[in-house]
Amino acid sequence: MRIRHKAWARPEIAASDICKDNAFAWQGKWRSQFARPEQPLYIELGCGKGGWVSQAAVSRPGINFLALDIKSEMLAMARRKTDAAFAAAGRATDNVLLSILNIERISEVLSPADAPDRIYINFCNPWPKMSHKKRRLTHPRQLGQYASFLRGELHFKTDDADLFSESKEYFAECGWEILTATDDLHADEPADNIRTEHENMFTEMGLPIHFLIARPPADAFGQPVPDYDAVVKAQRARKRNEVQHEQGISLAE
Ligand SMILES: C[S@@+](CC[C@H](N)C(=O)[O-])C[C@H]1O[C@@H](n2cnc3c(N)ncnc32)[C@H](O)[C@@H]1O
Repeated sequence: MRIRHKAWARPEIAASDICKDNAFAWQGKWRSQFARPEQPLYIELGCGKGGWVSQAAVSRPGINFLALDIKSEMLAMARRKTDAAFAAAGRATDNVLLSILNIERISEVLSPADAPDRIYINFCNPWPKMSHKKRRLTHPRQLGQYASFLRGELHFKTDDADLFSESKEYFAECGWEILTATDDLHADEPADNIRTEHENMFTEMGLPIHFLIARPPADAFGQPVPDYDAVVKAQRARKRNEVQHEQGISLAE
């Protein structure tokens, strides 16, 4: 998404108590940055303007939230929205932190010592071109990183049918278990679903919302980041060979 430069973004982030600069400095120490470190920790990747995290954090004081985005303009808008939501609720902003990060480097910022209980990916960029797919936040390269530090589940929403079906393949290829999946979340919308800015926009356009919950392989937690990219390539090559072998047999018959 293109977004206009906002000169106020970085100064506002620097002055804010809920924005942590240099995300890399807090690896393994995220929980201690919250007023109640013992609470579950939920992470939102690509938080955009903060519509989701501001509502989630206000409505669930018993959970700590960390929201990350690559763009300072987005984070600054998320900061404004979050502070406004807490002010409206008459609460101190004590269970939410925001930070700038390119999620492609997330395993340098989160570790098993942080052990988030949940990751949310809401309407990440679909990157449809073959040469760009590696940038998807659900790509095996990313799933490998998440699996090394995620203690619980990953929740994923998108409007993009191709991204959704290819992501389901990524999860399966990387040994993640898909616990639930739907191609129309709003057909029977859970009472606790919080709609994001993009969810509202796509819903107004009449697009169904795809949603899944997945869990990483249990033995991946605390292990070095696996090279899922290589694993998936080898798996696909094996599948191709099997198909070619079967086709060879049926032609010979
Ligand atoms: C399509 S918007 C969705 C925003 C919000 N989650 C929503 O549902 O309304 C995608 C967001 O992901 C952020 N983003 C894209 N690639 C990223 C990356 N590699 N690391 C961190 N954030 C990223 C963008 O800056 C943008 O704010």
